[in-house]
Amino acid sequence: MSETEQPRPLSNAENQTRWAIDVDVDPYSLPLDKIDPAHPSLFEADRMMPHFQRLRTEDPVHLTPDSMFGPYWSVTRYKDIMFVDSHHELFSSDIENGGIRLGGRPRNQDEPRNEMFHLPMFIMEDPPKHDDQRKVVAPMFTPKHLQELSALIRERAGNILDGLPRNEEFNWVRRVSVELTGQMLATLFDVPQEDRHKLIYWSDTVENLGNPDFFETAEQGFQELWKCFEYFDAVWKERVARKEPGNDLISMLAHGDSTRDMPPNEFLGNMLLLIVGGNDTTRNSISGGVLALNRHPGEYEKLMKDHSLVPKMVPEIIRYQSPVAHMARTAMADVELGGKTIRKWDKVVMWYISGNRDDTEIEQPDTFIIDRDNPRKHLSFGFGIHRCVGNRLAEMQLNILWEEILKRFDTIEVVGDPVYLRSSFIHGIRELPVRIPG
Ligand code: HEM
Repeated sequence: MSETEQPRPLSNAENQTRWAIDVDVDPYSLPLDKIDPAHPSLFEADRMMPHFQRLRTEDPVHLTPDSMFGPYWSVTRYKDIMFVDSHHELFSSDIENGGIRLGGRPRNQDEPRNEMFHLPMFIMEDPPKHDDQRKVVAPMFTPKHLQELSALIRERAGNILDGLPRNEEFNWVRRVSVELTGQMLATLFDVPQEDRHKLIYWSDTVENLGNPDFFETAEQGFQELWKCFEYFDAVWKERVARKEPGNDLISMLAHGDSTRDMPPNEFLGNMLLLIVGGNDTTRNSISGGVLALNRHPGEYEKLMKDHSLVPKMVPEIIRYQSPVAHMARTAMADVELGGKTIRKWDKVVMWYISGNRDDTEIEQPDTFIIDRDNPRKHLSFGFGIHRCVGNRLAEMQLNILWEEILKRFDTIEVVGDPVYLRSSFIHGIRELPVRIPG
């Protein structure tokens, strides 16, 4: 190889082999610097929690010097996570500084940028751009607008539940969780309901860019994502041409001061943010709730006896599942945290999934308890200026779904092992075999 020739990037399968680990290893038997909680195999095998437990007690602000994502800090305690999330001036989300995903690095301004992979979105911006663009879509999620959507969500949830088989095994994720959130997304964008399958596909693509079961290389995945641009570009043009601006997310973006002139990659980035934000998260809370109730039969009985517990149970489901396992930031200055010095430009990961199990802040955090006194005390929606803009919509969907489930079924039985997503970003369930007696 000549000096100027770049090494070929590893394919997804090569990357998986290069970083293969024994997921069954006892984390307490490892030297601390080998603890690498971001390894997707740990999440796929549902083995990550003991790793976080060790870090919370022995090394709450922890450096993994070498991983498939490069070096990164793990922040695992509730209060430290809140500190990082609420100090956006110290911990940047800006895509130019490395963004919010593991593996993202500050851009070398001297190198040409590959536009195909560069997808800015407002979750990967700092103020003022973040604040300006967030304001454009915020009206979608006001209590008044959500109230207007509630009857539609109830009707759709009812239809989905009425179509489920009885006394027969089926995958709850596909038949209910994906369906309900997919239909919701098509409504938020005001596109035909039959196109929800495309939205679901693009959402799954984002989460599986590095998964060899989906794509040979990440580049192939990005090629698929640009088809999403073609689709929404046509919708955008139609919305701009309308005489009256619509009340959907694309109309809001097309008419917003800070979004109407977005270049193609920023438009695609923001569309993907709204698709993934509104899809994977609520989907996994819907699946996670059924699983948690089955694993805590006493809580299921409590719920059956008292349906008014649903509004308290919903935030507990969201805490217990922690559908977004982490968000990452880049340090903008040297910062002391938990007795460690994080250096400027270091990658810092806030593990919401770990903070939600911190027993110094949450009583019996490993137990699913549907009538907690303060169920909204959790980190699943983040904290600070990026706190989830769709959190009320997510809770409303889950509330309505559970109310409708309780009207119809005495129980939903989980009849096999769940299959988990190979991702340490979205804590997801791909398959949940269930049976509804009837
Ligand atoms: C249970 C369901 C959900 C969970 C657990 C969740 C979680 C999160 C988290 C952790 C963040 C980042 C917070 C931070 O960095 O501090 C976030 C941001 C965001 N979420 Fe959600 N989310 C959910 C549902 C939704 C829904 C239904 C939508 C609607 C489309 C949505 C749209 C967004 C958007 C647009 C952002 C970026 C906000 C910003 O940067 O200002 N999310 N969400």
